[in-house]
Amino acid sequence: MKTIQDVYVLKNGVKMPKVGFGTWQIPDGEACYNSVSLALKHGYRHIDTAAAYRNEASVGRAIKDSGIPRDHVFVTSKLQSHIKSYQETLDAFEKTLKELDMDYLDLYLIHAPWPWNEIGKDCDAGNVEAFKAMEKLYLDGKVRSIGVSNFSPKDLDNILKHCEIIPHVNQIAFFIGNNQEETKNYCDAKGILVEAYSPLAIGYALSNDIIINMAKTYKVTPAQLCIRYCIEKGTAPLPKSTHESRIIENTGLDFKMKEEDVKFLDTIKDDPRRWN
Ligand code: A2P
Repeated sequence: MKTIQDVYVLKNGVKMPKVGFGTWQIPDGEACYNSVSLALKHGYRHIDTAAAYRNEASVGRAIKDSGIPRDHVFVTSKLQSHIKSYQETLDAFEKTLKELDMDYLDLYLIHAPWPWNEIGKDCDAGNVEAFKAMEKLYLDGKVRSIGVSNFSPKDLDNILKHCEIIPHVNQIAFFIGNNQEETKNYCDAKGILVEAYSPLAIGYALSNDIIINMAKTYKVTPAQLCIRYCIEKGTAPLPKSTHESRIIENTGLDFKMKEEDVKFLDTIKDDPRRWN
């Protein structure tokens, strides 16, 4: 089976394609519609969006127009980071469904433990309220799995202590040089699947000599090596691109990395966004 069609099985038995197409920073309208359409055309069956990206309507339209049955595409969206109450979470979810023009989601995430303009603020009580609303949506059958994003072990502890369902997913920035060992180990221990956003370090990893040279030894591109690394680590990468050739390139993942190479890349502890 091609890697792009391969799946992880979440703790609740739901199958999630291992590689998702990310849509962060892809502007709403034609750019987003075309990128998602191309991703579906070239084999992606997992699309990641968020209310904060303001492109849910284009994502939904591209999925509908693709003609691919709804239940063959895994769709994720996220609760805006400033929403931290029960009723507002339920309302925001309905708005997201309306924007996407769908009647259910495959995965709904709390976008961040704090509002993006107040990073680090203590929102423990609000996160519990928001997650309890997500549990209701899950139990009502409106979403097939629920989780969080950008959560640290401490943020996860708070949810595990006060909620019934262990989040199925934690979506975090994860790439060579930023493999978030502590959070990843915590998630592994609890059966929480880690999704890797920005697997190319927003493109910065691609001009690094170590990555370029290792990619050559596998006869793949630096982008393919970066994405494959995330899979070798057991995470679900969410690469994004607005160019068809790159969207195709990023599906070329049918190679295996040697354990020693993965381990070597693990030793890089520098965020590539600061390299070069
Ligand atoms: P573009 O959309 O112009 O193709 P990440 O997924 O880590 O956030 O990285 C996304 C960035 O990397 C985007 O700027 C995207 O640009 C670029 N990118 C995506 N795929 C490739 C690729 N295969 N080769 C080079 N750049 C890429």
